[in-house]
Amino acid sequence: MLAPQNPEPDRAMPDRPETPAADEPRPPSGTVPIRSIDHSHREQILKHLQALEPADRYLRFGYAATDEQIQRYVDQIHFERYMLFGIFNRRLHLIAMAHLAFSIDPQLRTCAEFGVSVGKASRGKGYGSRLFERAVVHARNEGVSQLFIHALSENTAMLRIARNAGAVIEREGAESEAHLRLPPADFDSRVSELLSEQVALTDYHLKAQAKQFRGLIGMLQEIRQGVREARERSRG
Ligand SMILES: CC(C)(COP(=O)(O)OP(=O)(O)OC[C@H]1O[C@@H](n2cnc3c(N)ncnc32)[C@H](O)[C@@H]1OP(=O)(O)O)[C@@H](O)C(=O)NCCC(=O)NCCS
Repeated sequence: MLAPQNPEPDRAMPDRPETPAADEPRPPSGTVPIRSIDHSHREQILKHLQALEPADRYLRFGYAATDEQIQRYVDQIHFERYMLFGIFNRRLHLIAMAHLAFSIDPQLRTCAEFGVSVGKASRGKGYGSRLFERAVVHARNEGVSQLFIHALSENTAMLRIARNAGAVIEREGAESEAHLRLPPADFDSRVSELLSEQVALTDYHLKAQAKQFRGLIGMLQEIRQGVREARERSRG
């Protein structure tokens, strides 16, 4: 079993407590920086998915995917047919991600499938719901009119996200399929996507700078410590 590697504070948003109280209000749409992710994030996608526990892998993939199967899945992601979104913490670790898979069949151009995973330490904070909303806006802007979500019937959280959005859920024993009709794109959906991507990219670059700066400070401290130790050695 693969435990989440170093489950750490997510800090996708500044000054947010690490463990929310049960009755803590969820972040409203647009307040969680969610950016699109591409092939340059393959390594982080792999790390995020391999950190899922077996039960979560089962919920995410529909079977208890092994590390090797996840590796193959990540290697084979076609970024031309997939749109991926991610939430990064202040260390730029990918703490939650979602995908929209578009059909290659020209007759099914208006359909897409949604999938999502949130790292264990970041659950229950509304990230799954926010990723869903972000994906819906993108899907609308891409001309998608039907969104599908395959989930195990036991996956209360996923089905709740779908139900909250107004999806119709059809249960077939252990598996359920949710489908959501999407309205066509409009001015709001286009501007909203542009804005959220811009905000998320700015947030990402600020986090990258802060990370670089912390690295520099750490290095300076090490140098100072080394100089101090060398001075003490030469004295004694
Ligand atoms: C499903 C998953 C993405 C939800 O992410 P999350 O960030 O914890 O979800 P949210 O905080 O946005 O909560 C979504 C809704 O589910 C509810 N919920 C969350 N966890 C729950 C749980 N364990 N049991 C019941 N309901 C739950 C929330 O109350 C919320 O409903 P509300 O808005 O009506 O209050 C996450 O549990 C996960 O990654 N699971 C493993 C992978 C998976 O199942 N993927 C989905 C299949 S593709």
